[in-house]
Amino acid sequence: MSHEKIANLFDDWAKSGRGERMQIGHGDVVEQVVADLDVRPGHQILDLGCGVGWATRILAQKAPGAQAIGIDVAPEMIAKAEELSSYTIRARYEVGTFEHLDFPDEKFDHVFSMEALYYATDLPQALREIHRVTKTGGEVNVVIDCYAERESTHAWGHTLGLDLHVLSEADWKQAFEHAGFTHVELTRVKDRRGAGVEGDFQASEHFPSWEEHVAYHEAGSLRIRAKKPF
Ligand SMILES: C[S@@+](CC[C@H](N)C(=O)[O-])C[C@H]1O[C@@H](n2cnc3c(N)ncnc32)[C@H](O)[C@@H]1O
Repeated sequence: MSHEKIANLFDDWAKSGRGERMQIGHGDVVEQVVADLDVRPGHQILDLGCGVGWATRILAQKAPGAQAIGIDVAPEMIAKAEELSSYTIRARYEVGTFEHLDFPDEKFDHVFSMEALYYATDLPQALREIHRVTKTGGEVNVVIDCYAERESTHAWGHTLGLDLHVLSEADWKQAFEHAGFTHVELTRVKDRRGAGVEGDFQASEHFPSWEEHVAYHEAGSLRIRAKKPF
């Protein structure tokens, strides 16, 4: 799977307004995870696969003087992120890939990512890069919606025409540990709004039936939390 193919797909999403709409779908889970992060004044935060940057901006406002940088392979996502940004928020956005992070070693106190890492073209290389740019003692929080134990997501790669890393929880833990991270914890985060009501449900390419939508909701998002040890 090439970066160009991924960028083309997500450029189209950005142009059709789907970048902003992801905040509606992912917002509650991100709110719960971000509430739990120990972001201190002056901390440097990286948001991987930032899309239109809504989570980057939330992260940047978590503590005085904190700065968040969002990177994304899709230039149209970054263009939207810049449009939606404000000079009063210490957030900036760059076109870049997980596999080559254009930052010095040990720059970030926190690395965050919502619904993006399983698109990596080279997952071990991406994790090595994340480890390299994380400060010693720093923390990584990766949240994903598509993983092996959540069967309702298994067809997503086929639907999108992309090769996704649909890993089990045990495989994610092993991949992070292999990259040098410790204290790797896996937890599920459920959207507090619930699955909704059947009468309002509309079938889509991701959720062909109400039952699949409910099963998806009940499984929750997978949060992978890891530390770069001292
Ligand atoms: C499902 S979207 C999530 C966007 C955002 N985090 C959100 O929740 O709104 C996944 C994003 O990851 C980006 N992405 C996928 N693979 C990437 C890679 N290898 N390097 C950098 N960005 C990538 C895509 O361009 C896309 O914007």
